[in-house]
Amino acid sequence: MKAVTWQGVHDMRVEEVPDPRIEEATDCVVAITSTALCGSDLHLYETLAAFMEPGDVVGHEPMGIVQEVGPGVTTLKPGDRVVVPFNVSCGQCWTCAQGLQSQCETTQNREHGTGASLLGYSKLYGQVPGGQAELLRVPFADHLPIQVPDGPPDDRFLFLSDVLPTAWQAVEYADVPDGGTLLVMGCGPVGDMAASIALHRGLRVIAVDLVPERLARTAARGAEVLDWNEVGGELADEVRSRTGGRGPDAVIDAVGLEAHGSPGPQALQKMVGLLPDALAEPLMKKAGLDRLTVLHASIDCVRRGGTVSVSGVYGGALDPMPVFQMFDKQVQLRMGQANVRRWSDDILEVLQQDDDVLGTDTFATHHLPLDEAPQAYETFQKKQDGMVKAVFRP
Ligand SMILES: NC(=O)c1ccc[n+]([C@@H]2O[C@H](COP(=O)([O-])OP(=O)(O)OC[C@H]3O[C@@H](n4cnc5c(N)ncnc54)[C@H](O)[C@@H]3O)[C@@H](O)[C@H]2O)c1
Ligand SMILES: [Zn+2]
Ligand SMILES: [Zn+2]
Repeated sequence: MKAVTWQGVHDMRVEEVPDPRIEEATDCVVAITSTALCGSDLHLYETLAAFMEPGDVVGHEPMGIVQEVGPGVTTLKPGDRVVVPFNVSCGQCWTCAQGLQSQCETTQNREHGTGASLLGYSKLYGQVPGGQAELLRVPFADHLPIQVPDGPPDDRFLFLSDVLPTAWQAVEYADVPDGGTLLVMGCGPVGDMAASIALHRGLRVIAVDLVPERLARTAARGAEVLDWNEVGGELADEVRSRTGGRGPDAVIDAVGLEAHGSPGPQALQKMVGLLPDALAEPLMKKAGLDRLTVLHASIDCVRRGGTVSVSGVYGGALDPMPVFQMFDKQVQLRMGQANVRRWSDDILEVLQQDDDVLGTDTFATHHLPLDEAPQAYETFQKKQDGMVKAVFRP
């Protein structure tokens, strides 16, 4: 089959690789019909290179049609339409039962001290072959895939794999009281979707980014928007002036470790990305290489006693944090990979409303054949051509 493979920093290639097969009785194989490109894929493209090996199949936002099921599968059959969550979770362990599927005890990567395996996401997370491919082996077939109805286009359901539950969890964790205000940092797919969900719940949303078309997109959903390049260091003052001097009830950081505005760490990240793995791996694991501008701004902006809900990915171990400010303001911090299966049934209900309330049908800006994936990675990283969300159709 054809698959998007990682070959090196800024070097993704579509290659012929062996077809995945049923390996365990509880596996299924899905023929992929749509598979999206994510901001998290960009971390592999550059920053997390030390944890990749040439030939790794990437991608963690796929959906398609079940082609084959193992002999132990009872609830799924060939022909079923499914979305595959990016967390590889068993659905049966203690953490899965708590709704903490991103910490699944069956697939945790104890040798790296990390949580549940992720599809197509580096040695830190199990090196599981990913879903930017024609076919995907999916374990725990009776628990993991989300069955979706026939009828609506793929894009209605595709984002259940990651963006929707990630944004949903960010809003849940933000825990804004009725009638309250939410500040969303970043209008990429995650921030934009979090804004949609919060607006759908009747909250006031202020959103920040620095790419004009991304700001325009989130503004069109009903959010007030601020351009980071214009407000920059005055962001907290500007936000407080819009919220009665107090600050928003919660802030979602939907940017993460590659934030613009931290030139030092940015240069260091690039350098480490280019080092040989043996040197880069311990550096990445032990040192603070995050660009913390947005996380620090989030803590600065949130009202006293408010919540900072972090969905942007961070990776450092020695990151300097404004602990006095966090303590003094009584800030609550919630974060982590989305627990896709915890929220997916609730979201599926909303998606089946006829009027497409969350705007998923028109969420993707680009639909491309899989062969164009390498170019799309570059365009997406450089934020060119108005690309916010690209969907490949293998
Ligand atoms: N927690 C999870 O489960 C989960 C799931 C998916 C994605 N993520 C992470 O969420 C983050 C966002 O993902 P995405 O797909 O939306 O990616 P993205 O890279 O498209 O979005 C990031 C956005 O932040 C903006 N930005 C950069 N610096 C900024 C600044 N200083 N101020 C304001 N905005 C700034 C960028 O212009 C961009 O629009 C990434 O870190 C991604 O890895 C986490
Ligand atoms: Zn993703
Ligand atoms: Zn589990």
